[in-house]
Amino acid sequence: MALVSGLEIIEECTSRNLVAGAFNTTNLETTMGIVAAVERVGVPTFIQVAPTNVALSGYEYIYDMVARRLADCPVPVALHLDHGKSIGAVEDALAARFTSIMIDASEEPYEENLAVSARARTLVGPELALEAELGSIGGKEDDIGPEQEHRTDPAQVGRFVAEVGCDMLAVSVGNVHGHAPDARIDFDLLARVREATTVPLVVHGGSGLPVEQLGRLHEFGVVKVNVASDLRNAMIRAFGEAWVANPNEASLIRVSQQAVAAITEVVERRIRVLNPVVG
Ligand code: 13P
Repeated sequence: MALVSGLEIIEECTSRNLVAGAFNTTNLETTMGIVAAVERVGVPTFIQVAPTNVALSGYEYIYDMVARRLADCPVPVALHLDHGKSIGAVEDALAARFTSIMIDASEEPYEENLAVSARARTLVGPELALEAELGSIGGKEDDIGPEQEHRTDPAQVGRFVAEVGCDMLAVSVGNVHGHAPDARIDFDLLARVREATTVPLVVHGGSGLPVEQLGRLHEFGVVKVNVASDLRNAMIRAFGEAWVANPNEASLIRVSQQAVAAITEVVERRIRVLNPVVG
């Protein structure tokens, strides 16, 4: 099917009490691996790319590649801009026909974050989904960072969500970007954020969180969980292991297919962990 609006993914996940994985792509192999897993499990999903990862492709190639692969996928998928740090990035992704957008002005002071996020809302319009971030998620996202962590203040949530009009809110509640084996969700804080708003929540930093925590997020109004590092690691490891096994390896296609299979395994496992009902 054609790419759907992020709003459709939110609606379907909310009504079925599912959590959508949001998996970062960079290239063809990652995209193929993600969609193969989505087809196996059948849970609505976001495929996303951050501005740092379009250095080679630009947004249009990503759109064409994802849309083409999804043409015969029966499961709804939205194409999402991850960590749009500027209005320019939002405009570029919209021009490339992305169907869901994140504005991330979370490192700015509260009022500035609110103003930039509200401006993004006017550009994104009511038919596409907008994610904004309140509080700042620590760790290293791509080549950016490490960012300073500021946990989301529940007292700031109500006004921020009402004035921005975002469809999803990314929160900082102990989740950390990148390889962060010690990261833990503070469920008390997450519950207080949940009480402050009905807007669906987003948890970034899905790679570092323990499986038993990921499996509880659906109880707290979380609709989207971002996973990037685990996929990148699986892909780079597949190529690295192939070279170590045989420095004269010349079958790029075989190694590429092994990388796709490794990505599929990681994504399928994550979707199932996030959705214990799916099993
Ligand atoms: P991880 O790299 O920790 O999975 O985080 C990804 C992320 O949150 C992208 O926005």
